[in-house]
Amino acid sequence: MDSLDRLDRENLALGGFVKSYASRPEAVRLDGSHTSIRESAVATLLSVIPGDRGGVHLMDVCCGEAALAEGLMRSMDNTKIGQVHYLGVDQERWYINRNRSRRASFAHFGGFEVELCEVSGLSGLQHRPEGGFDLAVLCNTLHEIPPRFFPMMFDALNSLLKVPSGLLYLIDMETLPDDSPESIAIMWNQEEVVGMLRAGGLTAASTVHHKSVDVCSVVIEYSASGVDQEGMKRKIVEILSSKLHRVIEERRGVELDLETRNGEYRKWVVLTGTIARCAEELDALRLERWPEV
Ligand SMILES: C[S@@+](CC[C@H](N)C(=O)[O-])C[C@H]1O[C@@H](n2cnc3c(N)ncnc32)[C@H](O)[C@@H]1O
Repeated sequence: MDSLDRLDRENLALGGFVKSYASRPEAVRLDGSHTSIRESAVATLLSVIPGDRGGVHLMDVCCGEAALAEGLMRSMDNTKIGQVHYLGVDQERWYINRNRSRRASFAHFGGFEVELCEVSGLSGLQHRPEGGFDLAVLCNTLHEIPPRFFPMMFDALNSLLKVPSGLLYLIDMETLPDDSPESIAIMWNQEEVVGMLRAGGLTAASTVHHKSVDVCSVVIEYSASGVDQEGMKRKIVEILSSKLHRVIEERRGVELDLETRNGEYRKWVVLTGTIARCAEELDALRLERWPEV
């Protein structure tokens, strides 16, 4: 009776876990420390960009609730913020409408605009500054974006930058915290992100910050020759294939534990979800055969 009782409770807890795992992801808060890396890196980049008299143009790709804009207002003085023209872009109408309705609270910016746009549609972006963006940022989001979009997304972002000084800044967690897994997620570590960018012909300088999970931060230079989309795609396929192989092996180990004793059901669920996401993306990349690992 005792063990049955325990099993029922475990199943209810597991049901709740699966439900939250499969729900729409929310921004993960890493005890405040993560956001400070994001804000201070962007503030530093903005301060070294030689803005002309028209100011500095910043695009926050996948901006969500514009937490970066709020953070920048806290960490930069009003004179500097007054030189920054901010454009937030997101696929969620709800975020766009909310940010628009709060425009007054961003009045210290030299300009504040938002636009509804999916990353795969960035080449059709409406709000483009005449000379291009000085800085485009992609914060805390790479893991949510289907990798099949990366080659066209990075190419579109590169083409939206100011020539030749524009920069792209990317920051994301290498792994999600154990209590915040997302079924949508495919996580990228420093070596994978940089390998993928370089395969696309981009120049990228990266650092890793050890917080409650490791956070990878990358500065990418404008490329006059654009992005080698085929090269990047080949590298993505290679990375996803080896990721899929590793996760299948790991899940086998967890499965053995499940057969012999009370195993880690939650870990099994997350590994199963990761296998599905990697396989789905590889399928979408239309591979005729998966490369040897
Ligand atoms: C985890 S939140 C990060 C928000 C913000 N960048 C930050 O650091 O606080 C991820 C955001 O990416 C957006 N997003 C995810 N996939 C997207 C896509 N394919 N195109 C545009 N936006 C996307 C989501 O709507 C969400 O607002």
